[in-house]
Amino acid sequence: MDLNDWHRSLRAQFPQIAGNPDLAYLDNAATSQKPQAVLDAVFSYLTTGNANAARGSYPWANRTTSRIEEARHRLRRFFSDISEISGVHFVSGTTEGLRAVARDWLLPQLKPGDEILVPHADHSANLLPWEEAAALSGAVVRSLPYDSAHDYAFRDLAISPRTRLIAATHVHHVYGNDMNVHRLRTLAPDVPICLDAAQSFGHLPLSVADLDVDFVVFSGHKAMALPGIGAVWARNQRGPEFRLGGWAGSPNTAGIVSLVAAMDWLDEAGLDRIESWNRALGLRLTDGLSKLPDYEVLGCQQSLTIDSPVQQRHGIVAFRHHAISSNDLGFILSSHGLLVRSDAHCQAVAGEKTSSVRVSVHAYNSPEEIDRLLEVLSGMS
Ligand code: ALA
Repeated sequence: MDLNDWHRSLRAQFPQIAGNPDLAYLDNAATSQKPQAVLDAVFSYLTTGNANAARGSYPWANRTTSRIEEARHRLRRFFSDISEISGVHFVSGTTEGLRAVARDWLLPQLKPGDEILVPHADHSANLLPWEEAAALSGAVVRSLPYDSAHDYAFRDLAISPRTRLIAATHVHHVYGNDMNVHRLRTLAPDVPICLDAAQSFGHLPLSVADLDVDFVVFSGHKAMALPGIGAVWARNQRGPEFRLGGWAGSPNTAGIVSLVAAMDWLDEAGLDRIESWNRALGLRLTDGLSKLPDYEVLGCQQSLTIDSPVQQRHGIVAFRHHAISSNDLGFILSSHGLLVRSDAHCQAVAGEKTSSVRVSVHAYNSPEEIDRLLEVLSGMS
């Protein structure tokens, strides 16, 4: 199918997008809209199959229990995982998942003087749990080496025998950069790596056969599923088996149903196509902004050049106007029907000192929406 036909048919499947042709929803790093197939799956489950899981011996309950087991296998397939020993643990989202890895898996192993490496200027959800584990154990948190001109300077990475974990991020939630976690694995072959995939799950193919990481943690709601569902995938090879402590009670069955439907939808749409579509929209925006004198695009400037040897950018672009505050810019864009996020984006220490406007796309966004945004921005340049 021609790419434009692919996009048109895909876009028509999102009721909130199709029902609001005058609005351009450009805040997908915060959450995605939902395709009809996901809404139908949840409606069908809640009207024909709803019951609690792992309790009850009647067919609805048994069916729900097996749906959850099947969902674990579905996620393994989605991640091209053929391992027999990996684990899939459903959580409410990335924040809870990262906290669970820090608290339930890492903390019991930590001793004073051990070291945890964390990403530069990442989301606080990928800093605070590691800091808490360090504070409770006497371990030390260090940032991965970063050079603002060239992005991650992994050649300066100092791994010591006391390095217990590297907390990595697949795609940065403000700069949109791919951290290129392969390079970390090459330099640290034996250190467990926990990958925050909040902005990559459902946006690009994610194969754990290819990415030799030990944990993948993500939220479903940024990838077409309902809010309140996410997962920790654990390789269970470097270090003890991951067991989720502190999670009891009834599982989020409707959320799990939505996650399975979302994975089916994403596979059908094609993650390769989604990735290149979103990257092309991001590039269209950064190219357009580079021609407007009053705007500054945040993040590594080298990654803005087409043949950049540093990490590729995906469909997340944050920028500022030299004279108009980002909050004002957000209101102005909203008055033109352009829905973006404008604040400090939950960035942890060492992040940006002032707020910015963030545009983040998904497969239903169109080049016309980016052009419309650029036109409004150029009116303020
Ligand atoms: N973590 C989400 C974001 O970056 C909410 O917008």
